[in-house]
Amino acid sequence: MKHRPPSLRRQLVMRLLLTMTPLFILLWFGVHYTAHYFINAAFDRSLIRRTYALADQVKVVGGQARVDLPVAAREILVFDKEDLLFHRVLDPKGRVIEGEPRMPALPRGRALTPGHLLVYDGMRDGEPVRVAAFSLSLAGTSAQGSVLIQVGETLSRRTAAAGRATLAIMMPLVLLTLAAAGIVTYGVRRGLQPLERLRDQLSARQAFDLSPVPPDGAPAELQPFLNEINSLLGRLAEAVDVQSRFVADAAHQLRTPIAGIRAQAEAALASGRPDDARYALERITHSTQTMGHLVQKLLVLARVDAAENTLQLAELDAVEIVREFAREWAPRALDQGAEISLDAVERARILGDAQLLRELLCNLADNAARYGATRIGLSVVLAGSRVTCCVADNGPGIPEHQRQVVFAPFHRLASGVDGAGLGLTIVQRIAQLHGAEVRLETGDDGVGLRACVAFPIPGGAPK
Ligand SMILES: Nc1ncnc2c1ncn2[C@@H]1O[C@H](COP(=O)(O)OP(=O)(O)OP(=O)(O)O)[C@@H](O)[C@H]1O
Ligand SMILES: [Mg+2]
Repeated sequence: MKHRPPSLRRQLVMRLLLTMTPLFILLWFGVHYTAHYFINAAFDRSLIRRTYALADQVKVVGGQARVDLPVAAREILVFDKEDLLFHRVLDPKGRVIEGEPRMPALPRGRALTPGHLLVYDGMRDGEPVRVAAFSLSLAGTSAQGSVLIQVGETLSRRTAAAGRATLAIMMPLVLLTLAAAGIVTYGVRRGLQPLERLRDQLSARQAFDLSPVPPDGAPAELQPFLNEINSLLGRLAEAVDVQSRFVADAAHQLRTPIAGIRAQAEAALASGRPDDARYALERITHSTQTMGHLVQKLLVLARVDAAENTLQLAELDAVEIVREFAREWAPRALDQGAEISLDAVERARILGDAQLLRELLCNLADNAARYGATRIGLSVVLAGSRVTCCVADNGPGIPEHQRQVVFAPFHRLASGVDGAGLGLTIVQRIAQLHGAEVRLETGDDGVGLRACVAFPIPGGAPK
């Protein structure tokens, strides 16, 4: 199944809702608690008023406390549309002299001193109720002690009012959040429109149109992204340019020997003399050798370029590679009249590809031998956080002002020696693949050339 990348819009809305939901739950509790607190306070005040009103009706007649409730007052005390109201008056001896006997007791451990009032929660017939209790002192009358007046009510109105208040506060917030989610969705869609325009522009392009993408109308957040795309396109255009110049140069290099072969063959055919034919064949052989050498170097370069994407650098000992190369190369150098020597540290760890490193050394040693050196010195030294491998010779060397341009493909100095002009290009490409730097210097005692390649040591410092 194809994995669909997460949508920015959905992610933003989900995040908004996921953060808001727990906040809402907390807020809901907070608002509900606060609404309850204030609504309780208001309802308690009315309960207290009714308690005092009932207390006003307590009379002492003949040393006995009595309650004379006018009909209207009784109605106020017991009638409510939603809540059940109830009251009770106890004389100093604890006898019910008014109201219903069933009344939640005072909270445990709370005695009411005369003249004091207490509002408390209780249960009546399995239903929560709120009760105001007032202890009315009978001091100064013909009776003694105090009368306990209790007025209670069920909580329907309070609960409903608190629910309505909570809803009234929370609903706009919920609507606001939903509106915010809608605005985010719309905003993201609008915000992504420049990206869609960009996609249309890019898909309408020709394969080789590597011109920068115009930043018109792209939002500031997209600018760094566009800059990176444009910088990449710039690098790509440069690489394509280098590549096409290389192909043109290579074609030109191949055309010369081919034209030579053709001219020699035509000359031999036209002359008909055996000596001329022999001379032409020699020239043809020479041209084919040049061509073969050029094609072989082109193939090496193509292989090095292709290695870039699949290259797996392994930890290896540069000394061992150089030593092995010197051993293999010594007979060939001797054939060309050169002697090879090696001066190396004991061990030098680098990250590299053994085959490519041999190719690199081969090109450097081949140059030294071909341009007339009689002594070729290979060395491996550790310097700072680098391993430097050098090939020094006592040949003609390269003038300082030419030491950069010789790395360009097909760039050769006049030497009377044949070559494709690709050796140092190959050396530089291999060095780049290893994160190494190539340097050309004057050789030992101010004679010849020393080509050095400095490799980074894996992990930085030598061990
Ligand atoms: N050790 C050297 N001593 C003197 N000149 C050198 C040395 N190495 C390179 N050069 C000069 O630098 C030029 C470029 O060298 P490079 O190896 O790139 O190409 P090449 O040797 O001409 O051809 P090939 O592709 O066959 O190696 C050479 O033509 C030569 O003039
Ligand atoms: Mg060369």
